[in-house]
Amino acid sequence: MNINIIGVPLFYGCDKQGPQYAPDKLRENNLIDILQKHNHKVFDLGNIHVPSADSDSKFLYHRNMKYVNSIVTVNTNLAHLVNISINNNDFPLIIGGDHSLSIGSIAGVSKAFKNIAVIWLDAHADINTHETSPSGNVHGMPLGASMGIGHEDLTNLYYKETKVRPENVFILGARDIDSGEIDLIKEKNINVYSPEKMRKIGIENLVDFILDKLKESDVDAIHLSFDMDFIDSSYVPGTGTPVNNGFNVDETKLLLRKLAQTGMIKSMDFVELNTLLDENDKTLNLAIEILDSVFECIK
Ligand code: ARG
Ligand code: MN
Ligand code: MN
Ligand code: MN
Repeated sequence: MNINIIGVPLFYGCDKQGPQYAPDKLRENNLIDILQKHNHKVFDLGNIHVPSADSDSKFLYHRNMKYVNSIVTVNTNLAHLVNISINNNDFPLIIGGDHSLSIGSIAGVSKAFKNIAVIWLDAHADINTHETSPSGNVHGMPLGASMGIGHEDLTNLYYKETKVRPENVFILGARDIDSGEIDLIKEKNINVYSPEKMRKIGIENLVDFILDKLKESDVDAIHLSFDMDFIDSSYVPGTGTPVNNGFNVDETKLLLRKLAQTGMIKSMDFVELNTLLDENDKTLNLAIEILDSVFECIK
C-alpha cells in the first residue's frame, strides 16, 4: 500500500498545548521506518500549515467554538490533501493534533467515495455542537459536524453536504458522554458501544456484526478515527482528556487489527497524543507500538 503521512499540528480544537508536537515526535521515533517494515511505500507529505492565532482571538468568531476560524482553514486544506491522496488510490494516515482535524479528514475521504462509514474509537462521542458543548472546544464536535449536526461553518466544510450518514457511524469505547450528546444519540439513533457493552458482545463478534451492517448499507469505504484516550487512562498519561474504565493495550490492538483485516479501512486518523503531558515517553512509545501493529494488517 502507498501510505501518505499527513501531519496536522493543531491544538486549537482542544485549547491545550501539546498535541501539536505529536506529528514530529512520531517521525523522530521512526514512524516512517516502522510502516515501511510492513512492505508499505511511505510518502511523508509533511505537516499542514497551522496559522498562529493568539489567545485574544479565541472567542472572536464564535462564543462557543474556540478558534473556529483557524480550525476551519486548517481543515479545509486538510480535506483537499486527503481527497487527492484517496483519488490517487493511496492511504492517508492523518496524524494529529487534536481531534478537530477529523472534520477535514472525513470531508476529504467522503468526497472521494459514494457512501462512507466512520468507525470512531474514543472515550468520547465528539458529537457536541456550539449549542450543547460544555467546553466550547471544537475537538468535542467533529463527528457531529461530519453527520451534518451543528454549526454550518463546520457542517459545510469543503463541500455543502452531509459527509457521513448517521447509520454508518459506529462509536466504540465511549464512556464520557455529555448530556447534550446523549440526547443527540437518541434522536439520531447513533450506534454507540461502551467498553462494557463491547466486552459483553466480544470484540471480534462486534467487528463481524458491524461489517455485515455496512455491507447491507452498501458502504464503499471505512474511515477509522483513533483517539488515544480510547485506551484506559492508566496506559495513556500523554493525552489531554484521559478517561478510566477503558481498554488495555492488547484489547486495543486486537480491535484495530481485526478492523484493518477487513480490507475496508481506506484512511485513518491518529489523534490526541499530548507529548507535553506524557511520562517518560510512555504514551509516545505506545502510539508507535499501536501504529506498528495496525499497519501490519493493512494490505
Ligand atoms: N465532551 C467533552 C467536550 O466536548 C470532551 C471532548 C474530548 N474530545 C476529544 N477529542 N478528546 O468538551
Ligand atoms: Mn476524540
Ligand atoms: Mn476522546
Ligand atoms: Mn464530559
